[in-house]
Amino acid sequence: MKRGLFIALLAPLLGFAQLPDLIPAPKKMEIKSKTFTWKAGMSFYCPPAFANTPCKLTLWGLVHQYKESSTGKADISVTALPKIPGYHSEYYKLSITPKQIRIAAYTDTGVYRACMTLWQMLPPDWAQTRVTGFTLPCVIIEDQPDFSYRGLHLDVCRHFFPVSFIKRYIDAMAMHKYNVFHWHLTEDQGWRIEIKKYPKLTEVGAWRNGSQKGRYAEQRFDSLRYGGFYTQDEVKDIVEYARQRYIAVIPEIEMPGHSLAALTAYPQLSCNGGPFSVAKGWGVFDDVYCAGNDSTLAFLKDVLSEVLTLFPSKYIHIGGDECPKTRWKTCPKCQNRIKTEGLKDEHELQSWFMQHMEKWLNTRGRSIIGWDEILEGGLAPNATVMSWRGTEGAEAAAKQGHNAIMTPGKPCYFDHYQSKDSTEPIAIGGFNSLEMVYKFQPISKGIDSSLRHFVLGAQGNVWTEYMESEAHVEYMVWPRAAALSEVLWTGHGGNFDNFKNRLPADMQRLKAIGVNYAPHLGSKP
Ligand code: ACM
Ligand code: ZN
Repeated sequence: MKRGLFIALLAPLLGFAQLPDLIPAPKKMEIKSKTFTWKAGMSFYCPPAFANTPCKLTLWGLVHQYKESSTGKADISVTALPKIPGYHSEYYKLSITPKQIRIAAYTDTGVYRACMTLWQMLPPDWAQTRVTGFTLPCVIIEDQPDFSYRGLHLDVCRHFFPVSFIKRYIDAMAMHKYNVFHWHLTEDQGWRIEIKKYPKLTEVGAWRNGSQKGRYAEQRFDSLRYGGFYTQDEVKDIVEYARQRYIAVIPEIEMPGHSLAALTAYPQLSCNGGPFSVAKGWGVFDDVYCAGNDSTLAFLKDVLSEVLTLFPSKYIHIGGDECPKTRWKTCPKCQNRIKTEGLKDEHELQSWFMQHMEKWLNTRGRSIIGWDEILEGGLAPNATVMSWRGTEGAEAAAKQGHNAIMTPGKPCYFDHYQSKDSTEPIAIGGFNSLEMVYKFQPISKGIDSSLRHFVLGAQGNVWTEYMESEAHVEYMVWPRAAALSEVLWTGHGGNFDNFKNRLPADMQRLKAIGVNYAPHLGSKP
């Protein structure tokens, strides 16, 4: 018998417990002898500093039919740590003794991260069964993340997913201590957010008369009307749902490219006036917002004005990727803008456009994120670069003193294949196995150690051209997003074999909250 298995079988008999299968792994975990027995009717205490935390504990489902106590001697007790210089807002200490579960944190964010750790120690389906009488190992966990930006993205434009799905996506993110949901809301293939001043964006722009089917090369389409959008009330509901789980929602409103759905609704925003139709197929399209037209800029500011009322996030993502310059080259208005602004070419025109929008957002207290193309033609002064065509964009941004987020196609694109098995569902191409994700180093070789603080973190991207169903999206995301969560929390991919051993428990937890996953480890890199 393998030694590990022998210990696992014997441990409960001898009164020690096994290490819990936590993902992401905590920074420091010390296991003690003895156990804590989870009882019915336990009491809990939260200090006034976290005044609204008790109701949140209930909300998160961690405390159920338990009594609120006015003393720290409660069965589950939270302590507010006095803030010291350099404290980490997400730090927590979770101590489990035979008598008590104690959480200490500086902020309620820290309390929440501790709760997610504790939740992972309960039976996976505890939220459904509410069983009692099981034991938890006595441990002392001290924990905090390495990266402040731990993101997961979702494209709801190529395929649309309802509010219930988005909430489940956020639940699974929260369980893995992600803290940013990047919501890709506008595209060539559909505009997905209600804008009251421009109703045609959703009346017209949210719908297409067919979708591409099968492999890209087949160029096969159906003719079914397809679409959908989120009302502003639904957006607010999701932003609040995420906030309660300590996840910021960053909306992406794409400009100047990937804008065909908006141009279909309002063709006067283009260079040549259209007419256009919302794209059925995948790819990059030549028709983009006219950068020479002042009313196009006014439109985008109107849209962003409404977006700002819905999203309290520090960052607004304004796209900037894959914008062909074909139309701008022959558009009198765009050419006039190049002349009057003293710009060298169309790349500088794009840069002028992004800087114009950045300035407008900065005066409203927000910062922009853009895809790494925003480096071309000159970076907007306060922009954060999302590096997707490799890590070079982030490296260049850091050298210029700008913040960056790593989302290199390899291995952060979860729309790529995870396995070489011929039965895998069609994916966009590429290959990013679970192990490749786990071994990802967000601080690439091109980031000098003196510049590493410019790398805020990383993100997994989920473009949904080839993902029509909720189950399919989840299949592509999990467990790769679990691997990335550990990279971002611990700062490095640790030992893949050790991660693999903890994964079955994580899959059970995903299953318990109704999230699908790839039930295999993918192919070797
Ligand atoms: C991208 O994948 N076009 C950012
Ligand atoms: Zn133009």
